[in-house]
Amino acid sequence: MKYLKIVLVFVIVLLFNSLSFAAGAKSMCIDCHNKVTPGVVKQHLEGKMSKKGVDCSSCHGSEHKKMDDAKLAKMPTPETCAGCHKKQVDQFKSGKHHLGWIASSAMPMWAHQPKAVVGEGYKGCSSCHKIGVKSDVEKTMYRYGNAQCDSCHTRHSFKKSEAQDPRACQTCHMGFDHPQWEMWSTSKHGTIWQIEGAKGKRAPTCQTCHMQDGNHGVMTAWGFLALRLPEDDKDWLNDRVTILQALGVLDEKGNPTARLDVVKAGKVARLTKEDFQKERDKMINVCSKCHGASYAKKQLEAGDMVIKDVDKVFATAIRVVQGLYRDGVLQKPADWTFAPDLLQFYEAKSSIEQDLYLMFLEYRMRTFQGAFHMNPDYMHWYGWAPMKETLQKIKDEAVKLRAEKTSAKQ
Ligand code: HEC
Ligand code: HEC
Ligand code: HEC
Ligand code: HEC
Ligand code: HEC
Ligand code: HEC
Ligand code: HEC
Ligand code: HEC
Repeated sequence: MKYLKIVLVFVIVLLFNSLSFAAGAKSMCIDCHNKVTPGVVKQHLEGKMSKKGVDCSSCHGSEHKKMDDAKLAKMPTPETCAGCHKKQVDQFKSGKHHLGWIASSAMPMWAHQPKAVVGEGYKGCSSCHKIGVKSDVEKTMYRYGNAQCDSCHTRHSFKKSEAQDPRACQTCHMGFDHPQWEMWSTSKHGTIWQIEGAKGKRAPTCQTCHMQDGNHGVMTAWGFLALRLPEDDKDWLNDRVTILQALGVLDEKGNPTARLDVVKAGKVARLTKEDFQKERDKMINVCSKCHGASYAKKQLEAGDMVIKDVDKVFATAIRVVQGLYRDGVLQKPADWTFAPDLLQFYEAKSSIEQDLYLMFLEYRMRTFQGAFHMNPDYMHWYGWAPMKETLQKIKDEAVKLRAEKTSAKQ
């Protein structure tokens, strides 16, 4: 008993010491930063972490102490958080967000963009994709933007409540090729959420479906490109092979290219039936908390069929353009490995391929993403309808290009 008391006193003394030490460090950074960056200090003090003794130095180290040595301050990465939040960091690393940089910087058009778009200016691709981890070399080249975790609960308050709000996702999940924000917020789900407010639990938010039980490892069955392998449906497989060829993942003969390694490294597609089904089951499970399981299953299967239908339209358009290359009407640019190459995005060198790019990144995306987010207008008028319209444009343009080529020969 006596022994226990001594240990207890010892522990209390230790605790007191470490707390007073933390308080000391706190005042050192905070005293000065109250003048230098008062906003940062205010947010830090508002957040939960400061109330539990977390100090500026817990994330930035304590080497920098003076007005003129700020470069000694360390910038955090998820490893910094992992010391205290291992669970969230491990989950995050198993999901797609962690791979956001790898996937985007592997695009062949990346190298052709100015630094403001793809570099540390964080004005374009890099601004959203910095949610992913950079390579070890890039990490040392970039002073800022390696934190990743501040994407949903922003610094320096790092609020859980902010991250739980679907608006935390909208900056990135909006617009041209992934308007999940617009689709969800105008669907019945989002409408109910807007009417009844964040406290209402009737309607699902992004987090309800994609971060179940607060799990930080986001991943869907189909993914961004909606290209799964293997495929049992022969007709659909045939269309998918055409699309994979236009992506340069399969060559003309249908054999995998080096780009398949990027697909694997970035988990861009589900490559086994088990991987697909695992994510699908998780999703049906969440729908079933409010709807009947058969209703939910039917809804998602209707989404799958939308992909099949839209792939037919897309593959038809691709074949028209492939034919122009085969017959020498279009010439492969010298520095391209594949043509047509959908991964060149808006760097495409002819207007017919610019149309193909719109089908790929804007209309096809909206068709199936709209179907999965219960948004009939996006699925139809922003997706399916322009798919059909653009296919006709591509066919007409091909006839014109062929006629020009023939008359040039005569
Ligand atoms: C004597 C004043 C002073 C003290 C003490 C101080 N800082 Fe600073 N700190 C500054 C100034 C000045 C800057 C530069 C602000 C700017 O970018 O213009 C700065 C910048 C920073 C930056 C940003 C660095 C960058 O490259 O953008 C971090 C992070 C930082 N301080 C953290 C800390 C931490 C942690 C402590 C305590 C261990 C601390 N500071 C103590 C004055 C101070
Ligand atoms: C829980 C971790 C954490 C704590 C605690 C923390 N910071 Fe930061 N801080 C970050 C992250 C994350 C970034 C963003 C780094 C990046 O862009 O790579 C950052 C960036 C900064 C920057 C540069 C960016 C900007 O907005 O100016 C300054 C200055 C800064 N912190 C000061 C402080 C000060 C002062 C404190 C204490 C009052 C503090 N930080 C406490 C995590 C933290
Ligand atoms: C020294 C340990 C430590 C470090 C390092 C740390 N945290 Fe925390 N964090 C805590 C503690 C303690 C809490 C409060 C837990 C509680 O009260 O439930 C907390 C809470 C949080 C919360 C929940 C806040 C809320 O509103 O409920 C978030 C989000 C968070 N931390 C993010 C981060 C991120 C991101 C980093 C890295 C940039 C980080 N933390 C680094 C200790 C730490
Ligand atoms: C800073 C930008 C950013 C924010 C904020 C953000 N995301 Fe993402 N998200 C991305 C990027 C970039 C990707 C693609 C990652 C990749 O390349 O694999 C992605 C991918 C995803 C995926 C995986 C899709 C697939 O391929 O299977 C889901 C699901 C997702 N995000 C949900 C969310 C949710 C929910 C939120 C809000 C709680 C959110 N995201 C906030 C940028 C962001
Ligand atoms: C507004 C934020 C934003 C910008 C800007 C942005 N992206 Fe993305 N990107 C995302 C989000 C969010 C996703 C995931 C969308 C989804 O799964 O529906 C994504 C997905 C991707 C993917 C697919 C990753 C995968 O594994 O499925 C690639 C590749 C990509 N983006 C490359 C780029 C490139 C290259 C640029 C610049 C030309 C760019 N992105 C600009 C937010 C952005
Ligand atoms: C895509 C958005 C997003 C990103 C990125 C993100 N978080 Fe979170 N975080 C959330 C959401 C949503 C919650 C609330 C989960 C819940 O409802 O339980 C949360 C909650 C937390 C909590 C509080 C957990 C609790 O139960 O109180 C911590 C700690 C945390 N996150 C740490 C991190 C760390 C560390 C990272 C980087 C590896 C990170 N988060 C990146 C969305 C995000
Ligand atoms: C009712 C559940 C639900 C809600 C709410 C929801 N999603 Fe989804 N989301 C889905 C389903 C279902 C899929 C397709 C899953 C599959 O591949 O089988 C999906 C797919 C995605 C994808 C992959 C590309 C795509 O669109 O098909 C991203 C990224 C995504 N959702 C982000 C978000 C964001 C951000 C929000 C909030 C603005 C949101 N989702 C709201 C159910 C939901
Ligand atoms: C938190 C509860 C909740 C979750 C989870 C949820 N929903 Fe809903 N959903 C609703 C409510 C409430 C409505 C509006 C009333 C109704 O139609 O049942 C609705 C409406 C819908 C509608 C429109 C119905 C119509 O007749 O216009 C569809 C489709 C739908 N949900 C599908 C899904 C799918 C698929 C999932 C899973 C990916 C899902 N929901 C997850 C609550 C939920």
